Amino acid sequence: EPKTEFAEKNVLITSGPTQEAIDPVRFISNHSSGKMGAAIAMAFAEAGAKVHLVLGKGAVKPDHPNIQIQSVRSAQEMYDASAKLHPAMDICVFAAAVADYAPKHVAAEKIKKDGEGMVLELAKNIDIAFTLGQQKRFNQIHVGFALETEREEFHAKQKLTKKNFDLIVLNSTKDEGAGFQLDTNKVRLFREDGYSVESGVLPKTEVAKLILEEIKKLPVKI
Ligand code: PMT
Repeated sequence: EPKTEFAEKNVLITSGPTQEAIDPVRFISNHSSGKMGAAIAMAFAEAGAKVHLVLGKGAVKPDHPNIQIQSVRSAQEMYDASAKLHPAMDICVFAAAVADYAPKHVAAEKIKKDGEGMVLELAKNIDIAFTLGQQKRFNQIHVGFALETEREEFHAKQKLTKKNFDLIVLNSTKDEGAGFQLDTNKVRLFREDGYSVESGVLPKTEVAKLILEEIKKLPVKI
C-alpha cells in the first residue's frame, strides 16, 4: 500500500443518479453516469484509502480492492446507507446527482394511460449532504459538488455555505467538455476562505487527482 496522507483513511463517496419510483415500471432520474464519482473513488483507493462508495443504479462501478460498493436506488436509500457510514468517515465526497423531489405516492400497479394528461405530485427528498453536514465533526472533511446551468459561481458559493462543505466542486452544463456522461470535466473549486482554483477540460481521472490535491491543502486535521 502506498504511504500517502490518505492511507487507511475512511472515505465515503456518493455517486451516480438516484431513481425515484412512480410505479412498478417507471421512475424519475437524471443523466449521471457515475464516471466522476468512480474516478474519485479510484484516486482515493490508489492513495491507500478505504473507500465506501454509495452508488446509484446503472452508475459506473470502479474495481479496486480498497473500494467497497453499496448499491442503492432512491435518495432515501442513498441517505440511509451514507448516514450509517458517516460517523466513521474521515472524508466525504458528495458526487451523486440526487433527485431533489420524488413522487409523493408510489402507485402499487402500473399507471394506465386513461386521460389526455396526468399530474404527478412530488414531495421534497432529504438532502444528504446538508443533513450530514449538520453532523460534521471538526476532524471530518466534506466535499460537495454543484452542477449549475446559470449564475454558476453564486449558486456554488451558496451551496458551499448552506451545506457546510469544506470545498465545493462546480461544474457547469454551459462549459464544453463538462458535466454528465462525458469522460472529461471542467471544474472550479471554492473554499469558504475565498480561495478558488480552476481546471481546464481534463479527463475525469485527472479532475479527481486535482480534487485530492486540494483536499490535502485544507486546514482540517483528519
Ligand atoms: O456522473 P457523471 O455522468 O460523471 O457526471 C458527474 C456529475 C455532473 C453528476 C458530478 O460532477 C456532479 O456535479 N454531481 C453533483 C450533481 C448535483 O446534483 O448537484 P447539485 O448542485 O444539485 O447538488 C449539490 C450537492 O448536494 C451535491 O454534492 C449533491 O450530491 C448534494 N445533494 C443534493 C441533493 C440531495 N437531495 N442530496 C445531496 O446530497
